[in-house]
Amino acid sequence: MTRLPAIVSLVAAVLLNFLSVSPSSAESEAQSWNSQPAGMQSSDARVAALLKQLTLDEKIKLMSGTKDEMHVPGIERLHIPELKFSDGPVGVRCWGKSTAYPCGAMLAATWDKELSYEIGQALGRDCRARGVHVLLGPGVDLYRVAQCGRNFEYFGEDPYLSARIAVPWIKGVQDQGVATSVKHFAANDQETLRDSVNTIVDERRLHEICLPPFKAAVEEANAATVMAAYNKVNGHWCTANKYLLDDVLRKKWDYKGVLMSDWGAVHECLGPLTAGCDLEMGRTVHYTPDNIKKYLQEGKVTQDQIDEHVRRILNMTVSMGFMDRPQEDKSIPANDPASAAVALKVAREGLVLLKNDKDFLPLDRTKVNKVVVLGPNASPAVIGGGGSSEVGPFDNLSLLDAMKASCGERIAVTHVPFEKDQKQILNAEQEAAIRGADVVVASVGFSQQTEYEGKDRPYDLPSDQIDLLQKIALLSKKVVVVLNCGGNVGMNAWIKGAPALLHAWYPGQNGNKAVAEAVFGELNPSGRLPDTFEEKWEDSPACKNFPGDAANGGTVKYDEGIFIGYRAENGKRTAPRFPFGYGLSYSKFAFENLKVEPAGTDSRGKTDRFTVSVDVKNTSSRDGAVVAQLYVMPSDTKSPVARPAKELKGFERVELKAGESKTIVMKLDSGSFAYYDVDKHDWVTPAGAYSVGIGSSCRDMACNSVVQL
Ligand code: BGC
Repeated sequence: MTRLPAIVSLVAAVLLNFLSVSPSSAESEAQSWNSQPAGMQSSDARVAALLKQLTLDEKIKLMSGTKDEMHVPGIERLHIPELKFSDGPVGVRCWGKSTAYPCGAMLAATWDKELSYEIGQALGRDCRARGVHVLLGPGVDLYRVAQCGRNFEYFGEDPYLSARIAVPWIKGVQDQGVATSVKHFAANDQETLRDSVNTIVDERRLHEICLPPFKAAVEEANAATVMAAYNKVNGHWCTANKYLLDDVLRKKWDYKGVLMSDWGAVHECLGPLTAGCDLEMGRTVHYTPDNIKKYLQEGKVTQDQIDEHVRRILNMTVSMGFMDRPQEDKSIPANDPASAAVALKVAREGLVLLKNDKDFLPLDRTKVNKVVVLGPNASPAVIGGGGSSEVGPFDNLSLLDAMKASCGERIAVTHVPFEKDQKQILNAEQEAAIRGADVVVASVGFSQQTEYEGKDRPYDLPSDQIDLLQKIALLSKKVVVVLNCGGNVGMNAWIKGAPALLHAWYPGQNGNKAVAEAVFGELNPSGRLPDTFEEKWEDSPACKNFPGDAANGGTVKYDEGIFIGYRAENGKRTAPRFPFGYGLSYSKFAFENLKVEPAGTDSRGKTDRFTVSVDVKNTSSRDGAVVAQLYVMPSDTKSPVARPAKELKGFERVELKAGESKTIVMKLDSGSFAYYDVDKHDWVTPAGAYSVGIGSSCRDMACNSVVQL
């Protein structure tokens, strides 16, 4: 596949976008800033000309970060700019305060591709306001176990969903003239021993589960950079993994962008240099002039290889427009109301209503007089998880303040402060307040101190929180539990005591407003789980192989193969508590008139693609949104390998007014029916019959139709 048209259109989009922001000032600044205007030269010609003029020392200088770990040096005499980096992916972390968006898992829970473009756009503008060239995100490792300390940054367990969310996100950022870094390549699905763990993963699992979001990011979104992970895959560091970097990324996917290391993930010079790692980040440790010159002299590295690394870095610099304009766009406010609005929209759409016994929610505010808000996360707010994604926000709206604002003067809000580890949890006055409340909002979960990068968190909530939930269940039958975390937690000890449960993930700087709106019905929840929530840890297909064997730096074996998450639900396993794709609404929906029609043939004249249409109807009297999920199920095929009972291959989030009906159309192609054949090292589509199902979760298929391939 050739990259040229994509690069040309990217440059055009970047320039157009830049010009549309502030045409006259942009033009004149670009001219005065750069004494070597692009003129009519193509990107390739400009890169070749620059490469010719660079000395070896200058080339080597471009191949690693500076001491502050958030820049890559420029070469002043050739007007090659220094590149400014910032951590993401939930806000522009590194350069002062910034809009803090809801976490990646909450974005995935929206199942909203357009909104993912919008958040990308907003992040890109936030970068331009700060002169950032490269934003370190999105994170697209896959949810394997609930405990992974960075699940909250990622887009859930399913490679198709993750890819569909990642592609518009990257386009949104890059359309603003900012490079992205899709990370962490690859199989970096746990934080325990993350700097040393050796992930043993079979080829089929790699290609069917771990890699598709990365593949889509580079092939469809033209991600400017990819970040190689800390861990080893099948015995080789990801930064020096010839199979991943060269055979797959460069050759199979024809990736021409920049491959950088995660921070400090280069362990020596030669392996990464020859496997294809262009940039050592955060700073120069192994890509030193001494090391590289030595390997050149010894003939272990060629000048062409060095030039290729530098060409890719220059190509990004030129094709993203970094040489032709200042990266900082002063017309964009640092605290942009448009960014805050996108953050709130993501929280509104990503909030998942998991439980709502006897339609306990929404509450009729005219009938509510007393509200109690309690739990460790009620105040101060917990708006994000911990680590390199932590953003210093412009706002920090707690659930307590959001509830107070929503309740106004008339409804009394009592706050019961949480005393960590306190045995006698509640005093008599607090107990009385809970007993007398029309609703008790219990805000529990993890935080930046307990769910964070570098460590995996426990499966269960801390015991003092479980104690609290059990205690309040004895005092009130009107409890709404609001959960902050990156995925599932053990719920057996407390879920029965709460008629309603809202999963609020990490909702960003103003997302608790959405929670208060859902409690009183101004917001109709529409988020859907991007993960399988099993009832207990022992039900997870990975439970026997996590966190792996700690000896010799640690090995974790993905012995479950491709049968992870809902792919493991083939009738033998216990049904999960909340399945992948699940989420309740205050509305009711129906799917009808499913039609699966041939839409094209392969070279032998056999039908290999289909148009799927279905009518989605809101059968209730309340406006709402539903996600139509399309699953493909092999029903009678000649597949020589075991396949998951169903796999997500399409989805659309649909907003429907009360009583409204819409027809939605999705496409399936031969890839939608394929599996990865480890003998052919390629995807194959077995002939036979497949069932195509549409529903509102992976276990709730409203209608299906059989097609023949
Ligand atoms: C993280 C990356 C991050 C980088 C720079 C690393 O520890 O794994 O996700 O982008 O630090 O802060």
